[in-house]
Order: sequence, then structure tokens, then C-alpha cells
Amino acid sequence: MRLERELEEKLVQAALEARENAYAPYSHYLVGAALLGAGGEIVTGCNVENSSYGATCCAERTAVFRAVSQGERSFLGLAVAGGLEGCAPQDYAFPCGVCRQVLSEFCGPDFPVIVAKSVSDYQVFSLGELLPDSFGGESIR
Ligand code: THU
Repeated sequence: MRLERELEEKLVQAALEARENAYAPYSHYLVGAALLGAGGEIVTGCNVENSSYGATCCAERTAVFRAVSQGERSFLGLAVAGGLEGCAPQDYAFPCGVCRQVLSEFCGPDFPVIVAKSVSDYQVFSLGELLPDSFGGESIR
């Protein structure tokens, strides 16, 4: 389900701004994410790398974990913008598999995921398209 265009653009802008805070001295690949909470608030995240590479956290998970830790568990959409340092995003940056799984904990298959190069150049996918046949908590209850 798509958001209104104005809201999509606002989310993309927030993701682009969050990308400026990315800490990526190893990959030099900067990612920003912006999550729209059901209450209308936007919670952003960036990738935060670590010299022990496996301790790195992606931008999308940073945003989800920030939002949940602030008490929001219901989300209306996500925008992601990523690309090499020193220039604007050249390609659409898709959430990695782990981030798709984390999103699926809180968001349903219709949840819109916006992948953006700029405020005027982005694509929208549903989480169900990005993570079909997902594993969910109902399987272990
Ligand atoms: N990264 C993200 O932030 N989100 C993704 O969905 C894919 C990858 C980050 C992790 C790492 O800091 C850098 O991009 C290169 O993998």
C-alpha cells in the first residue's frame, strides 16, 4: 500500500539526511533509513560500522531498533538511501536479508519500502515482494 506522494518524499528526504550521519570508515558505503511510525513520527537510522565487521548495524535496523526502544511498534513505511561516500546515491539500495526479516517482525506484507536515489527518483516495493514466504513468530507459538 503506497503512502501519499508528499509523505513518500518527506521520508526519502529524512533518509538522505540520516545518511549523512553514517559511520562507515571500512566500506565507505553510506546508508540512511527513515521509518514512519503510526503516530506520524519519523525515526531515522544510519549504518554504524565496527572494526569487528560483524558488529556493524545496518541503517534499517538502527531505525527499527530506535523506534521500538522509543515505544513505537507500528509502522506505515520505510525509505532507504545508500551509496558510496562522496556522492549522491547512484543506485537504489535495497534492505539486506537480515533487515527484511527484522522489518517483517513488525510490518506486514503490504508495508511499503521506498528505495531512493533522490527525492524525485525512487521506487516503492512491498515488504511481501522483498521477503516472500517469510518466517514469522506464529510458527513458533
Ligand atoms: N548496509 C545497510 O546499512 N543496509 C543494508 O540493507 C545493506 C548494507 C550497510 C552495512 C555496511 O555498513 C555497509 O552498508 C556495507 O555493507
